[in-house]
Amino acid sequence: MAWAYVDGGADGLVTLTDNREAFRRWRLRQRILTGITKPVLSTTMAQTGIDLPIALAPTGIIGIAHWRADIAAARGAEAAGTRHVLSTGSSYTLEEVGEATEQNHWFQLYPYGDRQKVGELLDRAAAAGFTALFVTVDVPVRGNREGERHAGMEVPPTLTPKRVLDVAAHPAWWWNLLRHKRVSPIHYGVGKRSLSTAVEAVRQQDRYMQSDLNWDDLAWMRDHWKGPLYVKGVLDPEDAVRAVVGIGADGVVVSNHGGRQLDSALGTLDALPAIVETLGGRGEVLLDGGIRRGTDVLIALALGAKGVFVGRPYAYALAAAGERGVTDVLNILREDMVRSMILMGCPDVGQLDRSWVLPAPVTV
Ligand SMILES: Cc1cc2nc3c(=O)[nH]c(=O)nc-3n(C[C@H](O)[C@H](O)[C@H](O)COP(=O)(O)O)c2cc1C
Repeated sequence: MAWAYVDGGADGLVTLTDNREAFRRWRLRQRILTGITKPVLSTTMAQTGIDLPIALAPTGIIGIAHWRADIAAARGAEAAGTRHVLSTGSSYTLEEVGEATEQNHWFQLYPYGDRQKVGELLDRAAAAGFTALFVTVDVPVRGNREGERHAGMEVPPTLTPKRVLDVAAHPAWWWNLLRHKRVSPIHYGVGKRSLSTAVEAVRQQDRYMQSDLNWDDLAWMRDHWKGPLYVKGVLDPEDAVRAVVGIGADGVVVSNHGGRQLDSALGTLDALPAIVETLGGRGEVLLDGGIRRGTDVLIALALGAKGVFVGRPYAYALAAAGERGVTDVLNILREDMVRSMILMGCPDVGQLDRSWVLPAPVTV
């Protein structure tokens, strides 16, 4: 069930697949004999200096992967010299993550209909030291994740003898789940933490979901949040311009929620070039979806992204090895990037532009 929740996508997985496939449509340029030995990876994302152009995307209810959840993710990110975006649906509170980390991280807001509740969350985020806000706009309703349902990952979860046996085969996971009870979206917590209140909190979160969310709501959030604000879930160039120029967002995250929302929407790398071109340097363009190797990061940067996020890669790492796993994933991506940039002859991620990529030859 946990695997189906993390790994799956919406409907027929067309967009989930496209997120990966889109990277195969580009090739990196290789320049020889450049003498480059130490390419520069450091950059800024969300007005924060970081050691590599990769940060951790928000993932809700990630306590299902590891009981240390968001704290392990944020600490794992800062050990690798970067940042984590804490989800509104996190397993630890803003204050708990703020206290357990050295650096200021970033907060992702699900803009629910209740402005008072949203305002309180934003104030708490600022007070707990979260410096940038990512407003996720691609979940007016939950996507149709059939894989989750088939695995019994419903509200409440459906347990069959086979699933109970499966749980029994993972005693450490089960023990930590029962002991720490970190599976609810805690900002919607209802009463004491328990498995039944976790189910109620997920229901609560669904009730807060605002399907008539509109640009006025976003403008209200822009007024309320004083730090940098990014709109996450943008796939259309006109929306990108309206967010940045019309509302005053500091940038957009080209994202389709990892293929978990509208299926048959564009893969994010396919959507990126038109958004970069239409924005023409106004606002910061970030991207997530399907980043699995350092070369993917290089392609996204060459096509105009300032930085990228990874979601599932660190969720898998959390499940496998907790905080250390998260740092390992980021370090593997960093080593990938360094090696590939030496092979390309590219000295600095700041120099990556369209001249560094070529469309893949069309096969007939
Ligand atoms: C298990 C899981 C939970 C997620 N929860 C959230 C969330 O709470 N808020 C949000 O804005 N995006 C959420 N996302 C989407 C990610 O932020 C991100 O857009 C996506 O995972 C990027 O694609 P990738 O997994 O291929 O790297 C979630 C993704 C996964 C896999």
